[in-house]
Amino acid sequence: MKEMEATTRPDNSAANVSATATANAEDSAIVHLEQAAKTYGEGRSAVEALKPTDLVIERGELVVVLGPSGSGKTTLLNLIGAIEPPSSGRVTVTGQELSTLDDGGRTRFRRESVGFVFQFFNLIPTLTALENVQLIAELVDGDGEGTARRSLESVGLGERLDHFPGALSGGEQQRVAIARALAKHPPLLLCDEPTGSLDLTTGRQILDLLQRLNREEGRTLLLVTHNEAIAKIATRVLRMRSGRISQDDRNERPASADQVSW
Ligand SMILES: Nc1ncnc2c1ncn2[C@@H]1O[C@H](COP(=O)(O)OP(=O)(O)OP(=O)(O)O)[C@@H](O)[C@H]1O
Ligand SMILES: [Mg+2]
Repeated sequence: MKEMEATTRPDNSAANVSATATANAEDSAIVHLEQAAKTYGEGRSAVEALKPTDLVIERGELVVVLGPSGSGKTTLLNLIGAIEPPSSGRVTVTGQELSTLDDGGRTRFRRESVGFVFQFFNLIPTLTALENVQLIAELVDGDGEGTARRSLESVGLGERLDHFPGALSGGEQQRVAIARALAKHPPLLLCDEPTGSLDLTTGRQILDLLQRLNREEGRTLLLVTHNEAIAKIATRVLRMRSGRISQDDRNERPASADQVSW
């Protein structure tokens, strides 16, 4: 275990060797925060939700972010997903420096480069599973319907295309939400409590799906949760406290999702 004052790069030894090594390290980084911080409000009511933070996430990592309520987990995710700009510092994701983007630039970035999965699925109740996914697929693809079908098939919902969300189980709704995120072919998936409203069996199925997307398709995943048990499937665990990453641990032998219990 590695205790840290502030956050550090997980391994910047290569960066000290030569300029080439530095360039390679930068290439494999999909997320790069440099003293990135977020403060809400002003004056006496100001909340430092994220204190100045350095962080590098490499392509292919499955990072679980743990920490008590209010510790800054969602704030970190929102900065990386360009939902909000940092108050100071730099956030670079897939080579794009987000801190310089205006609202329109951030919207384009979100549409093209990241997939989001939330606790409460956020599906449109009056659209079928297929239509929910197609809506997003069409933003980035000429063949929105084909992409949406394939995306739903890939999460095991090929037989549920015409169901409305109200006629799907919680786990199925979450799989529709994941299919919707995948329809954009994002290299980075950001998940905020994706199993937070699911029972153990269904939660495991969702974790198994997310882990396969990471292992088999090489997608980078950042998964925020309160649930310590989920840390077992991570290749890396970040712990947050009071707006800082207080601990950053590598996991050489991640468990498979079916071994997780809570
Ligand atoms: N839009 C906002 N305006 C003001 N303060 C905010 C805002 N969003 C978050 N905060 C504050 O920033 C701090 C960090 O919030 P954040 O949502 O990142 O915590 P969290 O770790 O995700 O918590 P939880 O586990 O409860 O979801 C909290 O004190 C919160 O009240
Ligand atoms: Mg949160």
